[in-house]
Amino acid sequence: MREKLVAGNWKMHGGLAENKVLLDGVVAGLSGLTGAKAAVCVPYPYLFQAQSVLQNSPVAWGAQNLSEHAKGAYTGEVSASMLKDFGCQYVIIGHSERRSLYGETDAVVAHKYKWAHAAGLVPILCVGESLAERENGVTEQVVARQLDAVVHAVGAAGMKGAVIAYEPVWAIGTGKTATPEQAQAVHAFIRGRLREVDAELAEKTVIQYGGSVKAANAAELFGMPDIDGGLIGGASLHAEDFVAICRAAQAS
Ligand code: PGA
Repeated sequence: MREKLVAGNWKMHGGLAENKVLLDGVVAGLSGLTGAKAAVCVPYPYLFQAQSVLQNSPVAWGAQNLSEHAKGAYTGEVSASMLKDFGCQYVIIGHSERRSLYGETDAVVAHKYKWAHAAGLVPILCVGESLAERENGVTEQVVARQLDAVVHAVGAAGMKGAVIAYEPVWAIGTGKTATPEQAQAVHAFIRGRLREVDAELAEKTVIQYGGSVKAANAAELFGMPDIDGGLIGGASLHAEDFVAICRAAQAS
């Protein structure tokens, strides 16, 4: 049985004072959480704050990106080992905003994944098609290409313990959620693809859905057999909403 994981992706939002209110609210709302996992992925400068507030709570924390290199002369970059220094458990890799706005290719994503995995971080690998790709009927090809790039780079052993987030680009921040059936179909496809690599890996891998998940639609999505929680953008900025989504994961 896979334990569901709900992870917040704050993106470039927050500030010390408002984070404190949000984190305190999340911790209070999720005290005694069992049967599901919760985490928040915050901007780099707030990792120390997240660590201070969340340690000894049921809520884990992580980052939204990392360097494709281990260390060296890469001005402005942050390495996997630096994230470990601040107690990160998770790191989002290959989010569609990074792919489309910062030119991250499948190869770059695979490098980032490798360093994250080597450092003992749990990579949350994002995959997903654009609206045009869905309309052209190439959703599965796109998702397979994004997934295979990493699988080929790290093998079955490197995929162990990872989280995959299926995030249709057209559903991110648009208020347009994939229907539970649409999402389930792609999740089942992803799990099938992993099964070709290793059957046990496929059964154990947590596959989150992301894209306009809210308290109102979380339970329906998380009730699908291959949807193991969510990656939450907008709704993770409000403690009450985020807590309700985590509770929906716990109940489903
Ligand atoms: P959203 O973002 O929940 O605001 O749609 C999800 C994401 O980008 O991870």
